[in-house]
Amino acid sequence: MSACDASSRTEPGQRDRYDNRTIVVHWISTLLVLLAFVLGLTIDSFPKKYAFGALNIHALFGLSILSISVFRIASRKPSGQCSSAPQITRLARFGHMALYLCLLGVPLIGIPALLFRGHGLDLGLFEVGPFFARNRQLARILTQTHLYAAYFFAILVMGHIMAVFYHTVIRKDGTFRKMLPARRA
Ligand code: HEM
Ligand code: HEM
Repeated sequence: MSACDASSRTEPGQRDRYDNRTIVVHWISTLLVLLAFVLGLTIDSFPKKYAFGALNIHALFGLSILSISVFRIASRKPSGQCSSAPQITRLARFGHMALYLCLLGVPLIGIPALLFRGHGLDLGLFEVGPFFARNRQLARILTQTHLYAAYFFAILVMGHIMAVFYHTVIRKDGTFRKMLPARRA
């Protein structure tokens, strides 16, 4: 469903905004992606005794992003507002699809990158895995692919922020407001 479908299922009186659940999920995912990205890039600089814990927290952030994104895509409600030219609308739709792909793809590559290190996952109350024997070469290739996918994701997010900035500050079409909760009267 595109961001501008006539069949948009937005809440009455809020056709210029995403519904509250989409807004909350969008900002929680944004925070988790930022935390996972920064933690991922700094894991190697943790002292050895904390490195496994840091990787575990990174994986848990990533798995939360994956679960939230599956729920987000399954229950997606577009904003309904459609103020741009069709080409811009198509570009925005393509960009959003690419963001969703990264929200799923980056953690999905991270999972085997972790498992082929011979690691399991500590979920606090219990542990799952390890499911595979350690395979250093495969783990290295998967980690490298995970890293490039994460960089690609970061570039997309920067493009996304620039697009929001262009719409909000230059075209002044209220795009940023679409992702903010409505003020109570
Ligand atoms: C959107 C979610 C995620 C983002 C943005 C992300 C990002 C990153 C980044 C930037 C790195 C650094 C790679 C490097 O320096 O080589 C990394 C490392 C890693 N990530 Fe993720 N990641 C995510 C989810 C996950 C998940 C769900 C798992 C596993 C369940 C995972 C497992 C790993 C592993 C095993 C490493 C290698 C750590 C090391 O160098 O020792 N990631 N991640
Ligand atoms: C990890 C970071 C982010 C991800 C993965 C992300 C992802 C997305 C996705 C997938 C949509 C489309 C929603 C839909 O139609 O289903 C969206 C919309 C939006 N995002 Fe983000 N976003 C991120 C960060 C940000 C940031 C930092 C801002 C603020 C500058 C922002 C502002 C918006 C706005 C205003 C919209 C509505 C755009 C429109 O419908 O025209 N996002 N975001």
